[in-house]
Amino acid sequence: MSNVHVIDHPLVQHKLTLMRKKDASTNSFRRLLGELSTLMAYEVTRDMPLQDVRIETPLETMTARMIDGKKLVLVSILRAGNGFLDGMLNVVPGARVGHIGLYRDPATLQPVEYYFKMPSEMAERDVIVVDPMLATGNSAAAAVDRLKKLQPRSIKFVCLLAAPEGVATMQKAHPDVPIFTAAIDRELNDHGYILPGLGDAGDRIFGTK
Ligand code: URA
Repeated sequence: MSNVHVIDHPLVQHKLTLMRKKDASTNSFRRLLGELSTLMAYEVTRDMPLQDVRIETPLETMTARMIDGKKLVLVSILRAGNGFLDGMLNVVPGARVGHIGLYRDPATLQPVEYYFKMPSEMAERDVIVVDPMLATGNSAAAAVDRLKKLQPRSIKFVCLLAAPEGVATMQKAHPDVPIFTAAIDRELNDHGYILPGLGDAGDRIFGTK
């Protein structure tokens, strides 16, 4: 599991536990997800390439470092992925945002794309795909398949919780894509929910049921 990074920072673990509680309100669930995604963005962007630039401070001219290349792209897998965006944009406010919508065909159980909108010049960008729950991994793998056709400079996948099954699916389909998660839980149940998990992330973010 060398390509899987569990972000075990105490603040991340504390906030995740608060989110797991069944009596967390929509308000606090959403706020905690925002805080957690800001903390996770910090870790996930740790290896972004830097370039030297010449700047003038009030006292001198110096060579300083800035992020290299075109703006990063955050790609949200609809709809729960949207819960990650604001928190991550706190850290990378200039990032571009793409969206992928997928649903599961009831006959084949395979993901089918219904929406795909990305910024231009994807081949020159680094991509971070976000979806709070890596359950079966089928949507995540299909989203990465689709994104790879645009040949971005790099792709990372970020979630809050992963099931071992989802990690295995992603590692088989896309061993080159690092996974960042706050925890790897025990298993999936027969309905595709992560156990012990936190329930339906989309419903908890948006207050639907
Ligand atoms: N999606 C969710 O929102 N929750 C799960 O447990 C699995 C998939």
